[in-house]
Amino acid sequence: MNKPKISFRNVWKVFGPTPEHIIETVKPETAVSDILAKTGHVVAVRDVSFDVYEGEVFCVMGLSGSGKSTLVRCLSRLIEPTAGKIIVNGDNVVEMSEEELRDLRRHKMSMVFQRFGLFSHRRVIENIAYGLEIQGVEREERIKHSYEILEKVGLHGWDQHYPHELSGGMQQRVGLARALAVDPEILLCDEPFSALDPLIRRDMQNELLRLQRDLQKTMVFITHDFLEALKLGDRIAIMKDGEVVQIGTPEDIVANPINDYVHEFTKDVPRVKVLTARTVMKPVTHKEELIGRAVAIDTTLEKLIPLTADTDDAILVMDGEDNVIGEVNRKRVMMALATIQKKEV
Ligand SMILES: Nc1ncnc2c1ncn2[C@@H]1O[C@H](COP(=O)(O)OP(=O)(O)O)[C@@H](O)[C@H]1O
Ligand SMILES: [Mg+2]
Repeated sequence: MNKPKISFRNVWKVFGPTPEHIIETVKPETAVSDILAKTGHVVAVRDVSFDVYEGEVFCVMGLSGSGKSTLVRCLSRLIEPTAGKIIVNGDNVVEMSEEELRDLRRHKMSMVFQRFGLFSHRRVIENIAYGLEIQGVEREERIKHSYEILEKVGLHGWDQHYPHELSGGMQQRVGLARALAVDPEILLCDEPFSALDPLIRRDMQNELLRLQRDLQKTMVFITHDFLEALKLGDRIAIMKDGEVVQIGTPEDIVANPINDYVHEFTKDVPRVKVLTARTVMKPVTHKEELIGRAVAIDTTLEKLIPLTADTDDAILVMDGEDNVIGEVNRKRVMMALATIQKKEV
């Protein structure tokens, strides 16, 4: 695992007249709705702690109003957190001076918004160049670089157009290009595809995955769409009422939803496509006795079904370094399928 790039530690954001007082007095079991009713304060982010590792796509998923936008805005201090630490590259963002913050926002982090946030009076190429302009990069150089990014996001030929002349999907490509132009270490995306039609949305998800393979940015990607989180996220944090209720890989979460709220999201997920040998296998202890066929640990249940259907023999499961670490057989695959069906009833 890479090292943490971003660490949230006991971060709170409370909106209202005396937010600090709320944090000191509220009991862990008191619901946010009760806090609001009794005190008039909105607890938008509640004692959140987690790490985002370098180079990973970290999705934050939850229903509308669960605190996702507030959390990500605290990261660049577009919103001031009420309490807690947010460490980026070893420095606490909460304690940064205006100047340090400006440097962080201009050079280290970029943000992509749901409503694109483009400048309507600027041509596409000038929109893409905006962040470099703010950095003080000289015109010729920033335009040259912006043309490279324009190509990367598939907007060849659209440089001299204005945003309103582009479709939603293309406008968001400009949004993405503008964020990437400054070559940020961290990309923050707040529901960037939520306003797009389903097919365009799928294109954009694939585009982002393609870009990420190349760029290896640390990404915090917010979505209210669980399937989007499964597709994009290396790991997912699920938020409810300002709290992170579960963090895990897509497979972890689908295999072991921690409570009814999370289970509700996972219910309609095609598990045969998400669960893999990792979840289905029995870890082995006597590997020297094992001979026979082998599969990689990330082989999906869907692919394991035909492999095990016609044999009683165990199939070996290998990790990335060709070590045998487990075995699956027809019975385990059947059990996994049966468990799924039970959960789906
Ligand atoms: N400036 C604000 N003042 C008061 N309440 C706010 C403010 N901004 C957000 N909230 C509240 O904080 C909660 C979390 O909002 P938000 O972070 O936007 O959720 P999400 O992005 O998950 O939809 C919501 O209840 C919202 O109404
Ligand atoms: Mg939001």
